[in-house]
Amino acid sequence: MNSNSSAPSISLPPVIAIDGPTASGKGTVAIEVAQALGFHYLDSGALYRLVALASQQQKIQLDDVLSLAKLAAQLKASFANGRVYLNGEDVGDSIRSEAIGLLASKLAVLAEVRRSLIGLQRSFRQNPGLVADGRDMASVIFPDASLKVFLTASTEARAERRYKQLIAKGFSANMTVLLQDLRDRDERDMSRQNAPLQQVEGALLLDTSQLTVDQAVQQVLNWYSALSQ
Ligand code: CDP
Repeated sequence: MNSNSSAPSISLPPVIAIDGPTASGKGTVAIEVAQALGFHYLDSGALYRLVALASQQQKIQLDDVLSLAKLAAQLKASFANGRVYLNGEDVGDSIRSEAIGLLASKLAVLAEVRRSLIGLQRSFRQNPGLVADGRDMASVIFPDASLKVFLTASTEARAERRYKQLIAKGFSANMTVLLQDLRDRDERDMSRQNAPLQQVEGALLLDTSQLTVDQAVQQVLNWYSALSQ
């Protein structure tokens, strides 16, 4: 082999990173952007929710960091047709409860758990491309993403969206409790030491408080197509 020959440059599939706070609607927008482009979709929050559900099933406490990290590293998660599976069982609905969301947000603070999920998240980067939704997609998981979007909405708009989402799924919900829970979650997501939620340099701000889903999706698609012009 000629040691002077330079290795061919391998270009990785493109990534659109969409980060933002809880209940901002980024999941819905990310799924529709992925569909429009024929890209894969990563719901990174679902992975934290799956770790939360699995830890609850196995009765692992929040302070047992080693067991939680091991659980995350061995997570048997799969996604198909909008459903989420844990060890082959459809848990798409149960991971959406507020209790699991709260637990997910607490164990997402743990650096060891976050580290255990990095490889799994990066494995979603496949041709023809990926739309990745989360808190640290642009900052940690895909820092070389082609497009970085920070998608947010006012606290009130987000609480209302979460309320409707929970009711539609048959869960009970209380607006006052939801608002407080949202503020607590924002605080935890933004103030944690490891991969805090932030609008990184180069990320485009998309405030969806006054936008329909279609308008938000169109804006992301416009930004993405502008990249290649
Ligand atoms: O539905 P919601 O936006 O509240 O949460 P999610 O996206 O399903 O994620 C559940 C929890 O995982 C969040 O409250 C975050 O604290 C955490 N998370 C994270 O830390 N990093 C990510 N990339 C995704 C989610």
